[in-house]
Amino acid sequence: MGDDKYLVEMLNIHKWFAGVCALRGVDFAIGYGEIVGLVGDNGAGKSTLIKILSGFYPPDEGKIFFEGEEKHFSSPREARKLGIETIYQEAAMVPKMSIMRNIFMGRELLSFRMGPVGYLDIPRMEEESMTALQKVDLKLRSPHALVDELSGGQRQGVAIARAMYFKSRLVILDEPTNNLSVKESQRVLEFIKELKKQGISSIFISHNLYHVYPVADRIVILSHGEKIGDFRKEETSVEEITRLMILP
Ligand SMILES: Nc1ncnc2c1ncn2[C@@H]1O[C@H](COP(=O)(O)OP(=O)(O)OP(=O)(O)O)[C@@H](O)[C@H]1O
Ligand SMILES: [Mg+2]
Repeated sequence: MGDDKYLVEMLNIHKWFAGVCALRGVDFAIGYGEIVGLVGDNGAGKSTLIKILSGFYPPDEGKIFFEGEEKHFSSPREARKLGIETIYQEAAMVPKMSIMRNIFMGRELLSFRMGPVGYLDIPRMEEESMTALQKVDLKLRSPHALVDELSGGQRQGVAIARAMYFKSRLVILDEPTNNLSVKESQRVLEFIKELKKQGISSIFISHNLYHVYPVADRIVILSHGEKIGDFRKEETSVEEITRLMILP
């Protein structure tokens, strides 16, 4: 049994890639409505850890618990069914499709269904898209505008609106503020705080401690595939985390 005071608990996670040890015995937990900042140098194992949690890879060793119950994800779809949503900077959206299509991709609303045949309920998807976007205070021209026309920050906003709309339990953001302007990065941080207000947990990976520190409740530091720090924000400082991150 895992500990059900956590939404997710990962215990003793190991992962090897062709002889390279990417994770060696990592314990990682996230509480209900908690924002956890996951930091560490390039190659520390951050993306590998969250890919295991989102069902892209199985761990070679270790266990994953969701609300205290052990889970074995064999695909991202299975993790998503539990409400674990992962947002990548690049792959979060299909640029040549509309905002609405992106929001409902794979989970389209139907007006009528008979066996395998269904009709898309376009008016309802239009309306629901706009409501979802308003919830994160994103004012976009039309749900039919192409994602291609949006800035990086707006795309993150759409992905977060989608996670809220589908009542995700945990949103994982892998470097969501990369390549964004100062202003756009601030918007993304606001989106993350909005998730917390709705009781949704999030994991926020970034190299920029000045983005992570202000929003995180807790900060976890990985180095060479091991967890070397796990602090409540009040117990640490940007200086201490920086010092740990640059240890050889
Ligand atoms: N699919 C893969 N095949 C082989 N090796 C991999 C693979 N994915 C990750 N690795 C290796 O595992 C280690 C951890 O990589 P990971 O991408 O998890 O690091 P990271 O902390 O996300 O780094 P960054 O900050 O650069 O994104 C690295 O040594 C990396 O080269
Ligand atoms: Mg990474």
